[in-house]
Amino acid sequence: MIDKKDYFKQVLSLGDFSKISSYIETTYGIQLPNNKLNMVQTRLIKRLAEIEKPTFKDYIEYVFSTSGKNELQNMVDEITTNRTEFFREIQHFDFLKENFSDKKDKVKIWSAGCASGEEPYSIAMLLHHHNIDCEIYACDVSVKALNEARNGEYQEREVSPVPEAMRTKYFTKVQDGYKVNENIKKLIKFYHINLLDNTYNIPNDIDIIFFRNVSIYFSSANQDSTFIKMASYLKKDGYLIIGVSENMFNKDLPFKKLKFSIFQKSE
Ligand SMILES: C[S@@+](CC[C@H](N)C(=O)[O-])C[C@H]1O[C@@H](n2cnc3c(N)ncnc32)[C@H](O)[C@@H]1O
Repeated sequence: MIDKKDYFKQVLSLGDFSKISSYIETTYGIQLPNNKLNMVQTRLIKRLAEIEKPTFKDYIEYVFSTSGKNELQNMVDEITTNRTEFFREIQHFDFLKENFSDKKDKVKIWSAGCASGEEPYSIAMLLHHHNIDCEIYACDVSVKALNEARNGEYQEREVSPVPEAMRTKYFTKVQDGYKVNENIKKLIKFYHINLLDNTYNIPNDIDIIFFRNVSIYFSSANQDSTFIKMASYLKKDGYLIIGVSENMFNKDLPFKKLKFSIFQKSE
């Protein structure tokens, strides 16, 4: 029997870290340079304790074996960075409101890399609040984050960026915080999707894609190939929004820049 505290003394060697980082980059596009070793060690050490693997070497052997398939998803869930917040980068929500408020048909939106759901719920609340009919597709590669998103329950401090009028209208107070109401939940379909795959289970007539704070983790080759694939899921003249600290460097991509971090599909 290993003492729980002994797991927390385990050290991830550079060799073992490289096995994880090359798998994560090849499969999901997420780059993990060597300076992320300590982060990965801290995030994974609790998994060692959870499934009682005494060393990182044992853990890695297990995770890449046939019997370790389920643990592989747990590893991905720990390694992905799921930081998000309601109405993050507010200018994108202003753009949405300004450009779609007089749209008669249903607006189709894709939140790609939705993490724990704050992004698609912000979109849904904003559009519902302005009587704009919408359907939202939200995806992530982390099963843990998607479960949180589907559950739609948030702490008081997490809902603090939500404008008062929407907080009262779209959340119900529960014991530990606030739960998103069903009329908002039903506007969103959640999917487990790896954006590095060749095709996605998403309709190909999307009006606007929110692809924010995800491509920052990708190599420029993976950024470009994902932008190209995304263009094929957009309607003619549809929009792609990236995070304010991200960029689309390649001028040959099928997008024209409208304003900072906002692009429109071009021929
Ligand atoms: C930092 S969060 C961004 C959340 C939200 N878009 C925002 O801007 O607040 C990045 C999310 O992208 C997801 N992600 C990273 N690589 C992915 C991939 N290959 N396929 C799908 N989702 C991915 C992560 O799991 C994580 O939840």
